[in-house]
Parts: sequence; C-alpha cells; structure tokens
Amino acid sequence: MTDPIPDLSPLRRHFPALQETDEQGQTYVYFDGPGGTQVPQSVIDAMADYFVKANSNKGGPFITSRRNDKVLNQAHAAMADFLNAPSPKEIVFGANMTTLTYNLSRSIGKMLKPGDEVIVTRLDHDANVSPWLALEEQDITVKMVDFDVEDCRLDLEHLASLLTDQTKLVAVGYASNAVGTINPIRRIATMAHNVGAWLWVDAVHYAPHGPIDVQHLGCDFSAYKFFGPHVGALWGKFDLLEKLPAYQVRPANPNVPYKFETGTLNQEGIAGVTAAIDYLAEVGRQYGTPSTDQEAETDRRQELKQAMHAIAAYERQLFTHMIEQLQTIPGITIYGITEPDAFDERCPTVAFTHEGFTPAQIAAFLGERGIFVWDGNYYAINATERLGVEDSGGMVRVGLAHYNTQEEVNRLITALKAMG
Ligand SMILES: Cc1ncc(COP(=O)(O)O)c(C=O)c1O
Repeated sequence: MTDPIPDLSPLRRHFPALQETDEQGQTYVYFDGPGGTQVPQSVIDAMADYFVKANSNKGGPFITSRRNDKVLNQAHAAMADFLNAPSPKEIVFGANMTTLTYNLSRSIGKMLKPGDEVIVTRLDHDANVSPWLALEEQDITVKMVDFDVEDCRLDLEHLASLLTDQTKLVAVGYASNAVGTINPIRRIATMAHNVGAWLWVDAVHYAPHGPIDVQHLGCDFSAYKFFGPHVGALWGKFDLLEKLPAYQVRPANPNVPYKFETGTLNQEGIAGVTAAIDYLAEVGRQYGTPSTDQEAETDRRQELKQAMHAIAAYERQLFTHMIEQLQTIPGITIYGITEPDAFDERCPTVAFTHEGFTPAQIAAFLGERGIFVWDGNYYAINATERLGVEDSGGMVRVGLAHYNTQEEVNRLITALKAMG
C-alpha cells in the first residue's frame, strides 16, 4: 500500500515572502526556486539572532565567540544529518557551490599529472564544468558525456566509452537545473570506481526535492547551495579531504574541514542553515511516515528522510498536474522526461519553449503578473546548446518547490493561455 500524499500547503504560513502582495493585493508566485528557494521565518530569526547574540569570529575567549563556534558546530552536525554523512567533520561550508568547486578542483588538480583525465557532462550547470575545464591548463584531458536530446537522460553508454584507466574524476549533477533529469548516481559511482576514479556530485538542484544519503550513493564529494540562506556546502570523504592539499593562509587551522573553510565564513547564513534543516525535520515530524528500517541514525536524520519523502510525493502530484496542463497549450515544446511513469527520474522543474514567443517575452509577461520564472540557460549552457535553443533565447524554466500549490500552477496556465 502506498502512503497518502500529504497536503503541504499549510506550511506556506511559515514563509513570510509568500504573504507578500502586489499593489492589487495579489500574492506572488515563486517558481524561481532552482535559483534559490524562499526561507521560513525560523531561518530569518536564526540569522537575526546570530547578529544579536553571536556576532563574532572563531576561537576567541569570550562569550560571543564561543556562541559563534557553537553555531558553526551545530551547522556541521545538521548538514551531516541532512546528507547522512558519517561525521560532521566531512562538511565544508563556503561562499557558494561554484566557489567551493573551484577551490576543491584546484586542490584535486594538484594530485593529478599531465595525461590524466576528467569527465564532465553536457547536462550540468557550468559550475560543475568550468572548474574542471580549468585543469586543461595543466594538460589534464577533460571529456564531456552527452545526453539524449529526446528525453534529456544522460547517455551512460557514452560515459562507459569515455572511461579509461587514466580517468581520475567524474563530475556529474545529481539533477539537471535546466530540464530536471535525475541522474542514476549509484550506477555512475560504480562505473567511476571501477576505473579507480573519484565521483564528484553537484547536488544543488536535487537537494530541495528528495532525500540524500551520501553513503548510499557511493560518491566521494558532493556540493550544495543549501536551500535557505545563500551558503554553499560540500561533503567529502574524510580521508580524501585529509589527503588533499588546501589553499590556505599559514596561521589557519590545518585540520579537516577547517583547512577548506577559507577566511571568515558567512556565519549568520550558516546559523540559518541549521534552522532550515530543523524546519525540514519539523516537516518530517508533522507530515512524514516513520520508516520501519532499523538504521542507526539520529532522530533528526530519520525526520529529515521522512520530510524529503513527503516533499517528493507532494511535488510529484503538483508537477504531474502542471505537465498535463502545459501539454494542452498549443505551440509549447517541453524538454526532458514527460511520461508520468518516469517522473521519479526527474525533479519538478520544467523547461519549455513556445513557437509564438521568445523565452524572455514569456518570463517578462509572467513577471508582470507576479509569476516568477527564469528564462535563458541558467548557466546550463552546454545543455541549451545541445538542445539547439541557446541562440534563440534558451527556454522558460518553471521550478516547483514544496511551498507551491495547484492554484499557483493554475495561475501560470491561465496566464500562458492568455498570451495567445
Ligand atoms: C545545479 C546547480 N549547480 C550549481 C549551481 C551554482 O550554485 P552557486 O550559485 O551556489 O554557486 C546552481 C545554481 O543555481 C545550480 O542550479
């Protein structure tokens, strides 16, 4: 028997941005989540609280500094629960995912030699491509895996053909921020490990939509832009983080994870990360179905899994409705997986074009009506080029989050139909 789909719409009351209205008193529709989701009040409170009670730097012999250190330790532990990381020491916070990836790609590059190979994909956000392409400067070969333009699934046969004994790292997205495809990470991890390569996973797009278990996935590193405040986070296997050289100033802490947390962190944002994870744990307590497995996990880890399963079920129902409705509008082409039976292979993020209007025209039309969507390539530039839409303005992207509702989807559809 499958669990009933929870109605998560009561959670909207926790998000002050969702109560904002235009001059006519109409609320805004936030379908721009893939670029960054809205935050609950508890995250805002935690960040404000940090400034009042803990605004200091690390390691001082006074109360605000000790509170600051506690904030940082709590966030490492919270993120470890979110990802099922074996230790909070495996979590590295940074400015954002792009900066963390550049930072670590430099360190990894120091371990490589000319002739070594790295594999990236055409489906990925450029933050998981350009940092690896930069290794070409040191004569590392960077190869690119293609995807099937019909359904935007990654071409695993092509990946298999690119893997060699020289492959040292495979960099792949957990899910595409353009067309929503969820990649089979476990399978890719096995393929990479079979030739002795590490697997780097960009999980930014997937993180708000489903449970993540880095141990089950079998990856070696994974990077996040955590939904909540604008903070980047990275998970890496402890022994690998220990082995990698870090670019750091001489007096800084040389131990993992601190050696990669360069300079003063966005500590108020990191206070917000813990609050965002605690918000999700509360969602799990309220809406989740306790699992019967006996895994040795913290209560919060169990609640987070429950939350993400509830969120995935709710979003899938909403997404199914949106795709069905979009398909009734003449002139629209949807990119990616559209068969409902395969929706567990995709996130609730859809990209489409319209034969009568450019993506920029559609986004502007919707924006004037308080509906926020992105157009263009959203930095997934290899994907838009491969789909042949880069020169015509890319695609319109609508990204659902668990705080969106069917009524909002209907507002989108009505507006699109009104465009003609
Ligand atoms: C899939 C994906 N990867 C990476 C990034 C880059 O993240 P950041 O802005 O934290 O550098 C984004 C940004 O939206 C993204 O969607």
